Amino acid sequence: MSNTVLVGIQWGDEGKAKIIDHLAEKADIVARFQGGNNAGHTIVVGKEKTVLHLIPSGILHKNTVNVVGNGVVFDMGVFLQERDALSAKGVDVGPNRLKVSEICHVILPFHQLLDRAREAVKTKIGTTGRGIGPTYGDKAMRLGVRIGEFEFPNDLKPRLKAVYQEKALQLKELGSTDIPEFEEMFSKALELYSKVKPHLVDTSRYLSEQTRAGKKILFEGAQGTLLDIDYGTYPFVTSSNTTAAFAACGTGVGPSSLNFILGLTKAYTTRVGSGPFPTECFGEDEEAGKLISQKGNEFGSTTGRARRCGWLDLVALKRAVALNGITGLALSKLDVLSGFKTIKVATHYETDGKKHQDFPNFWTKPVKAIYEELPGWSEFPGTQNESDLPATAKSFIKHIETYTGVPVVVISTGPKRDEMIIRDKRFN
Ligand code: GDP
Ligand code: IMO
Ligand code: MG
Repeated sequence: MSNTVLVGIQWGDEGKAKIIDHLAEKADIVARFQGGNNAGHTIVVGKEKTVLHLIPSGILHKNTVNVVGNGVVFDMGVFLQERDALSAKGVDVGPNRLKVSEICHVILPFHQLLDRAREAVKTKIGTTGRGIGPTYGDKAMRLGVRIGEFEFPNDLKPRLKAVYQEKALQLKELGSTDIPEFEEMFSKALELYSKVKPHLVDTSRYLSEQTRAGKKILFEGAQGTLLDIDYGTYPFVTSSNTTAAFAACGTGVGPSSLNFILGLTKAYTTRVGSGPFPTECFGEDEEAGKLISQKGNEFGSTTGRARRCGWLDLVALKRAVALNGITGLALSKLDVLSGFKTIKVATHYETDGKKHQDFPNFWTKPVKAIYEELPGWSEFPGTQNESDLPATAKSFIKHIETYTGVPVVVISTGPKRDEMIIRDKRFN
């Protein structure tokens, strides 16, 4: 396998962790490059389900090294909890195979409080409340703290105290009352830091050395393209660039190291939180939406919220293919659409009575999805063999390839690790 970037090309939860877990067997290193513990990544091996928020999804394969890159915002407490829970299950999470960039920006308690307080009084984005936006905000404002700075507490303390005072004022204004004392917050952070420290390295240097030694990297995207801070449905987005190019910035490798861009879509669409969603199942499609939600078990892995469900949106997909420079597509949850007599896919939008294929940058006018109906298919087993797929399921896949101009190279047919058809020998 060449270096591969896997990105979600919808609004997240496309099933990225399952694909990463599967492909990790062929990779030497799995690296996350953006987001934080707003992610909820589910891996099912046999009867056992593992949900990861911060640790890369290659961790269950003992031969891979897992790297949290500098583009990730890092909650030290969550990392330690997740690491220890994996360790209790017998997974090796030692520093040799779990490395964290020393320049990741740290999520501090006031970031979480600000995230939640803003949600309560301002535009409701429907965030995960994990402090992601305020932490990236402080990074850009040059108010942030990089993990490695805790090594120099005497330098850090006065600077952080000034930031804290500003945040405490903001929090008070927003009506938040449970602001921790500075001293308590600082000493708790130092304690967490001492436990995270063995995992810290200059991940950029590490990845560069490993690349020179011929090792292959699998870059794991979090969230999805339509939640990208620049290209998503702003302001209903997350606070990082989720698109493939950021795999380079977020780990400190050069863009020429990104050899294959694998874009993952579900066979339908989901979204958690607020914001535009042209193919959401309403009205005559309401029953279909409920069925998809039930069969697909569409509840958030991080917050448990019900995911909004809708049909596949080819207009959005084509835009995501262009934004990421997708080389091949992966398709998940094809099994969930089994049993429908017909299946809808949006091929156009209609705005002001005009039919078009442009994904808008501004969502000020109502956008109506225009559909094509395709024949459905009956149930099929979770399989690795394409010959098990009904003919109509295959023509649905062909339809996606024709519309986007990109081949579907991986097809996921169930939640379990092996329920996957690989069409491209690079991933075999
Ligand atoms: P991620 O955030 O992109 O990693 O996706 P999540 O883990 O949040 O959500 C995907 C859900 O779909 C998880 O519960 C997976 O176990 C499940 N899943 C992944 N691929 C498939 C598939 O092909 N079929 C079915 N039925 N479930 C799948
Ligand atoms: P994975 O990696 C789905 C959504 C939130 C909210 C918006 C902003 O599992 O695909 P944030 O907490 O990031 O400031 O929230 O982004 N969101 C996700 N939706 N999957 C995710 O991650 C998400 N991470 C954030 O619901 O609408
Ligand atoms: Mg998820």
